[in-house]
Amino acid sequence: MRKKIVAGNWKMNCLLEEGQKLTSEIVNMIKDEPIKDVKVILNPPFVHLYGVKKLIAGVDSIALGAQNCSDKEAGAYTGETSAAMLGSFGAEYVIIGHSERRSMFNESNELLTEKTKQALSNNLTPIFCCGEPLEIREAGTHEDYVKAQLTESLFGFSEDEIKKLVIAYEPIWAIGTGKTASSEQAQDMHAAIRKHLSSKYGEAVAEEISILYGGSCKPSNAKEIFSKADVDGGLIGGASLKSRDFVDIAKSF
Ligand code: PGA
Repeated sequence: MRKKIVAGNWKMNCLLEEGQKLTSEIVNMIKDEPIKDVKVILNPPFVHLYGVKKLIAGVDSIALGAQNCSDKEAGAYTGETSAAMLGSFGAEYVIIGHSERRSMFNESNELLTEKTKQALSNNLTPIFCCGEPLEIREAGTHEDYVKAQLTESLFGFSEDEIKKLVIAYEPIWAIGTGKTASSEQAQDMHAAIRKHLSSKYGEAVAEEISILYGGSCKPSNAKEIFSKADVDGGLIGGASLKSRDFVDIAKSF
């Protein structure tokens, strides 16, 4: 059975008290309305990690994640945060290669391999993002585009390593736009990703890897999207900043 996951990516949002309020509300809702077999992951900005970790302590269904990590181990890299530091603050997951980092911070497929290595060697689960821009979707080459992202960043990893990853498919045209991929479009791409993983690592390995959908996922569409065979949950941006919406999404399986 693949793990079902709903991960909230706060992006660069929430001052201290806002982040604490949001976390406390989510914790209280999940205590009152238990959710079955779903791992909820909060991915706040780095400065919130310590506070959020304290607030989620003792709630087994909620885990801590970060939005990024350095590709380097340690040293003179001003402004960077290492995977080892994230682990020492209680993070279990780290988002790698979000489209905003790829496009605004020029993160290449090669760099993302290094970040993934850092995450794995520090016992963090990478939530590895892939997804195509609008012009690629319109040209009809979206599957090849996403497959190439995976091949170039990940296909040097061993079977044991790749099994530790979570993949997030995020069509860029659906991120923060209110435009969602249809559940069929999500399923088609998730199935293509799984098949691609299977072509390299075999079906048994590919079947173990959770693939999340991201892109304007909301309580109103989550149930339909999560009902698809190869969709194992969501990576939620905007709606993860509203406790009620986020918890309702986590209850949408
Ligand atoms: P969104 O963001 O839910 O606001 O579209 C998704 C993401 O970027 O993870």
